[in-house]
Amino acid sequence: MLKIKSTFFLYFSLINLFCLSIGLLSAQPRPVKNGHYKNGVVVCASAYGARIGADILRQGGNAYDAAIATQLALAVVYPQAGNIGGGGFMVARTADGKLQALDFRERAPFLATKNMYLDSNGQADLHKSQDGHLSVGVPGAVAGIFSMYKNARLPFKKLIDPAIELAEKGFKITESEARLLNRFKKDFQRYNDAPVAFVKATPWQSGDLLVQPELAATLNLIRDKGAAGFYTGRTAKLIVAEMQRGGGIIRQQDLNRYQAIPRTPVQFAYHGYQVVSFPPPSSGGLLLAQMMGMIQPFNIDTMGFLSAKAVHIMTEAERRAFADRAEYMGDPDYFQVPDSLLLNKTYLKSRMAGFDPTKATPSTIVKAGQLYEHKETTHICVADKEGNLVSITTTLNGNFGSRVVVKGAGFLLNDEMDDFSAKPGVPNMFGAVGGIANAIEPGKRMLSSMCPTLVLKNNAPYMVVGTPGGTTIPTSVFQTIVDIIDYGKTPKEATAAPKFHHQWLPDTTMMEDGFAPGVTDSLKQMGYAIKTVNGIGRTEIILFDQQKMSKTGVKERAGMQAAADTRGDDSVDGY
Ligand code: DON
Repeated sequence: MLKIKSTFFLYFSLINLFCLSIGLLSAQPRPVKNGHYKNGVVVCASAYGARIGADILRQGGNAYDAAIATQLALAVVYPQAGNIGGGGFMVARTADGKLQALDFRERAPFLATKNMYLDSNGQADLHKSQDGHLSVGVPGAVAGIFSMYKNARLPFKKLIDPAIELAEKGFKITESEARLLNRFKKDFQRYNDAPVAFVKATPWQSGDLLVQPELAATLNLIRDKGAAGFYTGRTAKLIVAEMQRGGGIIRQQDLNRYQAIPRTPVQFAYHGYQVVSFPPPSSGGLLLAQMMGMIQPFNIDTMGFLSAKAVHIMTEAERRAFADRAEYMGDPDYFQVPDSLLLNKTYLKSRMAGFDPTKATPSTIVKAGQLYEHKETTHICVADKEGNLVSITTTLNGNFGSRVVVKGAGFLLNDEMDDFSAKPGVPNMFGAVGGIANAIEPGKRMLSSMCPTLVLKNNAPYMVVGTPGGTTIPTSVFQTIVDIIDYGKTPKEATAAPKFHHQWLPDTTMMEDGFAPGVTDSLKQMGYAIKTVNGIGRTEIILFDQQKMSKTGVKERAGMQAAADTRGDDSVDGY
């Protein structure tokens, strides 16, 4: 009897183990939209990514370890934006309070020229800056990961192995991922001459397994050789060969000379909180600082949440900040960005001088201020129990970037060159215009709007926040912080709240559905042109509890609430 029982249990355990090993990673975890955690949490665009990062925290990794593991996992399970062939920014705070900004943005290849996207009539050909080989900037993601790793503590193998396993064994795609892959099938076929993992003969369906053996091989090289496994040797050769095949201009010297750069974070105070965000070459942090600085004197908390009055003031601040973006912001290594002047309190007050509480200001009369001189990205929020905070926005730019998959290496390349101003005044994919500050130059980083952000209170962790969404990124982060600080909204409410966006040009306010009846009409009466849009951003938030005293009078360690955006498959995981 005993023998039968133990044999049964042996079989039972073996079957379980087998199911676990084939099912553990292939079974799509269900997204968790929000939760409260004591020790650490990860929020990102995929339930796989959140689970892998949170497992790293549970195994004793810190927020940097978890962020790296999540970013690598997203390169596999979220190919529309997660990447090793793109770039991004990290804003972080170490447990001992050191603030960091890491720039792993793509840069223009050395063969790039100012007019490379103009046709023979001098017209900008945006198809070339947005699709295919010529749209690709030199990838920075892998250099970024290894710079972040300096603050991590677990062996790198532990951080990358889950991603390799997902690429090798495959993972089950969600319904929205299936839809997206089907939508881009023709593009994948057009820009790639060999079969790619993202294309199959019959349409993708929810639950299908996406297996990426070539990507797994590339990740193995990165695991064994570090950044050299990407920027030199086999992977680098494959990138250059891919470029030459399709008329791209990235060469080995571009890969040899790519470096992630530590920057000084943008920091400013807002109603007693300290906001920390990303400086140029992103416009995100400066725009955020400008918008918050412009609305600070208006006591927005006394106006109704998302009332026409409040939306009006915030929109006017957005409009003015974006007019400055077009004129004054670019890669600080190539263009002197007048950051302290743009953030000067008197200057910001003067920007709102023409504000009329009853009327929209037409963008035609808003110019960049006079300074007296003198469609995919993804966000990861991580916090651990020691107080390390990591906020990363990373991107290929458009969905699946250039749609070029490096032959033999299995990863997608970005189409980030479109973030440059191809020609003064010609809008890019996000409708953003620019001039000299953001003109193409060899080796220069293209201006971004990405805005990974932290908020501190009395130097202690308060919020980790960020979102994708092109130019809507800084306005969504702006509104999220205002919703939480000024209106006392919870992370769940703030991420779900309808967002609005104005970027100076075009002179239109984009609004999601969900505003109270009458708000849109009031705004129209003030002179706003309104365009209703679907899904602005995917805002991820971690908010720290305010510290409480325990019954014995000891300060309790703060827990954290996390919320993943409900607009996508985004998910939180923690413990
Ligand atoms: O850096 C930027 O501002 C853009 N490349 C971001 C693109 C983006 O957010 C697309 N996502 N929805």
